[in-house]
Amino acid sequence: MSKDIIVIEELDKVYDNDFKALSKINLSIRRGEIFALLGANGAGKTTLIGVVCGLVNATSGTVTVGGYDHVKNYRSARSLIGLVPQELYLDPFLNVMETLAIARGFYGKKPDKKLLEQVLRDLSLWEKKDDKVQQLSGGMKRRVLIGKALMNEPEVLFLDEPTAGVDVDLRRGMWELVSKLKERGTTIILTTHYIEEAQDMADRIGVIIDGQISLVEEKETLMKQFGGKNLKIHLAEKLQKLPRWCDEGNLTLSEDGMTLTYTYKASESTGITALLTQLKEEGINMVDLSTEETSLEEIFVNLTHNDS
Ligand SMILES: Nc1ncnc2c1ncn2[C@@H]1O[C@H](COP(=O)(O)OP(=O)(O)O)[C@@H](O)[C@H]1O
Ligand SMILES: [Mg+2]
Repeated sequence: MSKDIIVIEELDKVYDNDFKALSKINLSIRRGEIFALLGANGAGKTTLIGVVCGLVNATSGTVTVGGYDHVKNYRSARSLIGLVPQELYLDPFLNVMETLAIARGFYGKKPDKKLLEQVLRDLSLWEKKDDKVQQLSGGMKRRVLIGKALMNEPEVLFLDEPTAGVDVDLRRGMWELVSKLKERGTTIILTTHYIEEAQDMADRIGVIIDGQISLVEEKETLMKQFGGKNLKIHLAEKLQKLPRWCDEGNLTLSEDGMTLTYTYKASESTGITALLTQLKEEGINMVDLSTEETSLEEIFVNLTHNDS
């Protein structure tokens, strides 16, 4: 069994109005992980999910789900997927139980009372099972949508902006549910434009900007890499280029040549004293020092700005 459950290669999507929504997407999703796709509104998150789920036609490129091509083996690929769409769209006249039972049939699977009860209980919807969907709050409706997706017993669950417009308590409940599903081996792909959400939940994070994947990384690595500190050394005179002895990974020179930025980990020995001594020996004078912390938020903002 391959370690990747979804493999996306060289995927492009151009909409009918010639708008290029996705460009050369290469992305693999590992079995059992929680993957957060982080991107601003309009970045292409829903389009990407739509292509993988077979709702949006790709312009070029390939996608496999569990080894099945999402077009050639559409039914097999689709049978592994649960999709919780961004839009709250439910038949208001059905009750909760009916909604889930019908969803099961829609996937072409045999009715399963035990599963139905389990899903309703997992989502804390058991008490509401006879309520008409239209009587439910927004957060409850979202849970019903998740329930519909779970009636397919998916190996991969897509959650498209699952906490948009959901209150804090429900958000927490949502994350408990996601953890429970992960424990059972479900792969989860969620999209969000909230950094904290990606930071809290995900094993890996992918950033999508203007239809391009600009970064995919283990969350831990990202946090280590970026959860550090920057020391800004404001120079007395313009420096033409970095001194040759500098480790370029840790030290960068601003475009105007007036600021050196030294990145270090607060937890490790910082090397600041050695750096400052070295600068002094080189006759590089400074006028001020300042420090700042980096966060995922900052990387995200930087990435977004660099690209536009
Ligand atoms: N059917 C469509 N026709 C033309 N453009 C579309 C269509 N659907 C989405 N888009 C555009 O594609 C871009 C990506 O949209 P979307 O995938 O919904 O982004 P996200 O989910 O990240 O907010 C947006 O600029 C959007 O306006
Ligand atoms: Mg979207």
